[in-house]
Amino acid sequence: MLLQIARLQSSKHDFIEGGKCMILENNAASISKCPFHGAGSEFKPFDQTYWADPHPFWKNARQNEPVFFHPELNYWVVTRYADIKKILAEPATFSSKILKEAIRPLSQRAIEILREGEVNPKNTVTNDDPEHKRIRRPINFAFVPKRVNEMESKVRALVTEHIDRFIHKEKADLVAEMFFELPAEVLFEFLGFPKKYMSEIKLLSEKRQSLKFGDLPPEEQEMEAHAAVDFWKLSKSMVKEVADAEVTPDNFLGDLLRYRNGDDNILSLEDIAGILYGLLFAGHETTTNLAGNAVRTLLTERHAWDEICANSSLIPNTVEEVMRYNPPVFYWRRRALKSVNIGGVEIPEGGNILLVMASSGHDDSMFEDPETFDIHRENTKNHLGFGFGKHFCIGAPLARLEVRVILEELAKRLPNLQLSEDEVKTISVNLFARGPKELWVKW
Ligand code: HEM
Repeated sequence: MLLQIARLQSSKHDFIEGGKCMILENNAASISKCPFHGAGSEFKPFDQTYWADPHPFWKNARQNEPVFFHPELNYWVVTRYADIKKILAEPATFSSKILKEAIRPLSQRAIEILREGEVNPKNTVTNDDPEHKRIRRPINFAFVPKRVNEMESKVRALVTEHIDRFIHKEKADLVAEMFFELPAEVLFEFLGFPKKYMSEIKLLSEKRQSLKFGDLPPEEQEMEAHAAVDFWKLSKSMVKEVADAEVTPDNFLGDLLRYRNGDDNILSLEDIAGILYGLLFAGHETTTNLAGNAVRTLLTERHAWDEICANSSLIPNTVEEVMRYNPPVFYWRRRALKSVNIGGVEIPEGGNILLVMASSGHDDSMFEDPETFDIHRENTKNHLGFGFGKHFCIGAPLARLEVRVILEELAKRLPNLQLSEDEVKTISVNLFARGPKELWVKW
């Protein structure tokens, strides 16, 4: 079935030339309805030039071709707020299982490596009900506000420690000095995992991200597939180490072990390893990028930085505005389980869907004057940056807390902070997250 759809879609694409649908080129009224009349061939997701400033492209798409097919990716691309929210709100029609797959087809050898390594974690984000519900329940049991609130003083101590390490310098790369490591340090503390594994997990996460969301040549895919196997093995051995300890710890992992109460039918150790495998990826890359996007945006929009330095109570809404304006999770995915009409375009059963989450935050049908970064915006919390509905981000309270504390401490100790001339060297290019890989500042 999928093969048929792909063939049908590519044959339709044959009619495209120079960004126009040739069948309809003399019929302007019809062209506006043609899903192939431009964006599908112009969208170059792995191109650094596009990635440096992607928003003008999406503004155009929202206005002229809000849902379009991208033949090379074999994805239907959805750009408007209302359409994205609808898709997130209907998990029975739009499956999350597509998230088990890499966005670009993997080589046969990479697939074999993953199969031989038995990488088959059961986690929430890549599953639909009833499996999603079964795994989400214990996470909800352990990921409670009390545990998150307890983290505030620890996060502040860590942020202070990082700032102390670079404040004597003349300039610093905030990603290298703080944003890269800090979210992983917080996550390990929160989850209750042995810290000795942290740098390995950071390294393996980057590789996992490239394999799943990047566009790698086959030989690199093989290397990254080995990394995914190592990640999975490490997740299993970390769980075993804590489960074998004499005392069940008073932390997130301890709570999962208490929930299971020794009964594999409730939750097996392999299930817990699957939860870990998910959290150890979801819980730090995203926050690293949010912190980078927050500081970069605030220092570009200087008036906003000055305002939060004068009044720290503005910071929580500022974090939400960054999530709307410059979100770390740029794209997300679903698969249509039946043929469905989205924004006037018929997406076939089995169609792959790319949600341009970052485009939803710039949609003027939801956010007035969306291209303006406004830390006082009243409805900014309506952004979809943490998702919507059943799969809404479990870690949102922790991510919000971390970035709030980072901004509070930077504003308090370095109010003269400014971007250095060579502020950003690169932005990671993939079909998942967007954030600076380096962020040079001076003060
Ligand atoms: C700025 C930081 C973060 C962003 C932007 C973010 C974004 C998201 C988004 C968009 C989803 C929805 C996925 C979907 O609908 O399929 C999600 C789900 C999830 N997030 Fe986050 N996240 C962040 C931080 C975290 C942290 C810190 C953790 C854990 C410590 C975490 C754990 C999860 C989990 C487990 C899910 C899956 C929930 C489910 O499928 O039921 N995230 N996140």
